[in-house]
Amino acid sequence: MALTTANTPNREPMTTHVLLVRPALNRVYAESSVDLMAAELAVFSDRLLGGRVRDIAPVRLSGVPYLGFTCPDLGPDDAARLANLSSAYALFERRGDLLAPVELTPLDKFDDDLVTIQKYPGKTNEHFTKLLLNLAVVSSASAQDMLTRRLRVLDPMCGRGTTLNQALTYGYDTAGIDVDGKDFDAYAQFIQTWLKRKRVKHQADTTRVRRDGKVIARRFQASIGVTKESYKAGDALDLDYVNADTTEANRFHRAGTFDVIATDAPYGVQHGSRATGALHRGPLELIRAAIGGWVGLLRPGGALAISWNTNVVPRASLVDALAAANLEPLDEGPYLGFSHRVDQAIVRDIVVARKP
Ligand SMILES: C[S@@+](CC[C@H](N)C(=O)[O-])C[C@H]1O[C@@H](n2cnc3c(N)ncnc32)[C@H](O)[C@@H]1O
Repeated sequence: MALTTANTPNREPMTTHVLLVRPALNRVYAESSVDLMAAELAVFSDRLLGGRVRDIAPVRLSGVPYLGFTCPDLGPDDAARLANLSSAYALFERRGDLLAPVELTPLDKFDDDLVTIQKYPGKTNEHFTKLLLNLAVVSSASAQDMLTRRLRVLDPMCGRGTTLNQALTYGYDTAGIDVDGKDFDAYAQFIQTWLKRKRVKHQADTTRVRRDGKVIARRFQASIGVTKESYKAGDALDLDYVNADTTEANRFHRAGTFDVIATDAPYGVQHGSRATGALHRGPLELIRAAIGGWVGLLRPGGALAISWNTNVVPRASLVDALAAANLEPLDEGPYLGFSHRVDQAIVRDIVVARKP
């Protein structure tokens, strides 16, 4: 990527716009966030803006780092889409030496503490979760409806629900599955407390799912009003969390009912991947065992984004596993730009694939 250096101030292309990256609390993530946003912007350009965004590169203006790009005819519809980039803080149009702010109105339906308050070991960084969800959404056949339709999002290994909370923030229906009973309890407790504290109209319930007279899972379901009026009109968001093994996902949801799947797979290090009974699978084995069920739940044209630890599973093995499940991996161009270091044991990457 063409970085401007002190000796070559005029070599940088004079881009039409600069994006200010949201300051991240996590230092390691902050180090990667400009490069990740450059790759995300390139995917948004291809999928949502007809490839009109060019010259994407980091720039420094008076010592402050931005992500520069050129899009001479950037209009309000384009800005409305770019407003949802996972680390976008502010967008400016360059007018000579001056920066003119471009108004950003992200989709957000709820306060951002819905995704930031919970802190626990093993939480997926909320900016990164938004990136993962964005990539799945803009790579799916529903990309152009991102701002207008209530999409349905599944995280089949959802932990304490960072993806579910991001999906709700977008005003989407969402479902999660996790085998860990403590995560299930913690999420059900958290979301109900949050909804009450924020005085959000809702109704919530935990039930036991039975098959052939046996309890096979616990299920938390909620209907959540974005506004009092929409809730009264019966137009509430659906939230659903099943405490079960993800290899059984298709026992709990109807085939072809999700627009996107986004999930941060177990890293195969400190938390390990868990499966029911005596089975303890590594991340690749777990994904191979579960992928057929997940693909069945996606609509045709639906997309899946998985993040994982490349120190444990090489990219090629995961891409092969997705292709073997009849998905079309998007394994070129900006989709290859998401690898980043998390800590000594984890180098995380993202793979995206589409259901034909
Ligand atoms: C990296 S964590 C996801 C964290 C989540 N995104 C969050 O922010 O809370 C991976 C999750 O996979 C879950 N998991 C591992 N094996 C599973 C299985 N067989 N079925 C369902 N979930 C599983 C773990 O319990 C863990 O919560």
